[in-house]
Amino acid sequence: MTVPSPAPLARAAVRWSLGHALPRTLLRRAAREGDLHGRMFVATQSGDLSALEPVLDELRGHGPFYRGKYAAVSAENAAVRELLSSPDVASGFLPTDGGSRLARLQGWSMIDAPLGPLTPPSLLVTEPPDHTRYRKLVTRVFSVRAVEQLRGRTQQIATDLLDRIDPGRPVDLVAGYGSLLPVTVIAEILGVPEHDRDKVLRFGAAAAPSLDLGLSWREFRRVESALREFDRWLDHHLAGLRRRPGDDLLSQLVAAQHDGVGLTDTELKSTAGLVLAAGFETTVNLLGNGTALLAGHPEQRRLLAEHDDLWPNAVDEVLRVDPPVLLTGRMTTADAEIAGVPMPRGSAMVALLAGANRDPRVFPQPGTFDVSRENARDHVSFSAGRHYCLGAALARMEGEVGLRTLFERYPDLRVEPGAVRRDTRILRGYERLPVTLKP
Ligand code: HEM
Repeated sequence: MTVPSPAPLARAAVRWSLGHALPRTLLRRAAREGDLHGRMFVATQSGDLSALEPVLDELRGHGPFYRGKYAAVSAENAAVRELLSSPDVASGFLPTDGGSRLARLQGWSMIDAPLGPLTPPSLLVTEPPDHTRYRKLVTRVFSVRAVEQLRGRTQQIATDLLDRIDPGRPVDLVAGYGSLLPVTVIAEILGVPEHDRDKVLRFGAAAAPSLDLGLSWREFRRVESALREFDRWLDHHLAGLRRRPGDDLLSQLVAAQHDGVGLTDTELKSTAGLVLAAGFETTVNLLGNGTALLAGHPEQRRLLAEHDDLWPNAVDEVLRVDPPVLLTGRMTTADAEIAGVPMPRGSAMVALLAGANRDPRVFPQPGTFDVSRENARDHVSFSAGRHYCLGAALARMEGEVGLRTLFERYPDLRVEPGAVRRDTRILRGYERLPVTLKP
């Protein structure tokens, strides 16, 4: 009988301790001591931004960056933009000193970590020159012009999905519409067959907490197991495309491998997995958050009915007020000055996207939802700099088609009691949004 080696479990325990248990304990303790970074961590446990509002004001009172015990945090629009565009920062929070005991322990623990959105070679945590190489291969498919060609098909998918719903009975808008529209679109772009879409949706939902800090051991194990399953499915899917290429993006990436200009197997899987998961795990939140906001603001709905050219702006206003991604992190790779503040090499920094979107110096009355706000597009919900969201044009188009089709057909849509926010911290949206389309 073979005895399973304890090393994989020990490595998982170290990954969890360093990535979740330790930061959670330290940040909670810091919160009790009044540290604003710690208080921000505690205030973002629920999806409700109102708990964060007072912390945002205090953070901004400290200037472009608040220096917390563990990281510098910014909720200012200009400073967040400067941070995200700085050449002296890298994404992710990995220790930069490869020689320290902690770095060695972490390196050991990552040997058999599953591929995920925050493990290299994911685009999200890769920097030039590799980052430039990966992005070049996928950018073309997601350009504004390429996305405009998908508008007609997206419209048809939205209409078909609504046709399937009985408008007189309460329905969960997330399960019946908001999650299905983006997954259908991205699956068509990437050549994922229809019978696999449910499975892909399940992987995405199970892996979504992988972006969070402070997971329990049980959640962490569940997430890693979903990532491994997703990895196996990708292996199988890519092998199928190698045998029978289509005219989708993934087939093109596989073909580029053979031309010698493409990606290694791991790079291909990581890029494909990220584009696929990011393609629906965020846009579902835009659709849910937008539905709830519009349902709660009849005067804004009337404005849109009278001026339908305001729809693109309304989507940006939804992204500003209720952003699908809460924050992102960076670390300085050299001594730097960001927004006039000196940051020594190795400084950890948090860009609070939701805070930058409510910076009162950029957005007067930032808490007000106003679809005609002139500078709604100045939000940073898609980040900034070289990691600026690859799918921003696609997400905006899907948001516009999805929300507009819904509200033009059902202008009196009503949210019913029982709405539940997702319990993920970084990805913000509704888990369940019961609505009656035609009350
Ligand atoms: C409303 C929907 C979306 C939101 C709010 C959103 C948000 C973001 C944000 C904030 C980042 C950068 C994170 C950072 O700077 O650390 C990002 C990156 C990314 N997004 Fe999106 N996203 C959305 C939809 C999409 C879609 C539809 C796709 C599909 C193509 C996509 C693919 C990506 C990819 C591949 C990256 C990594 C880019 C890089 O690191 O160079 N996203 N997204």
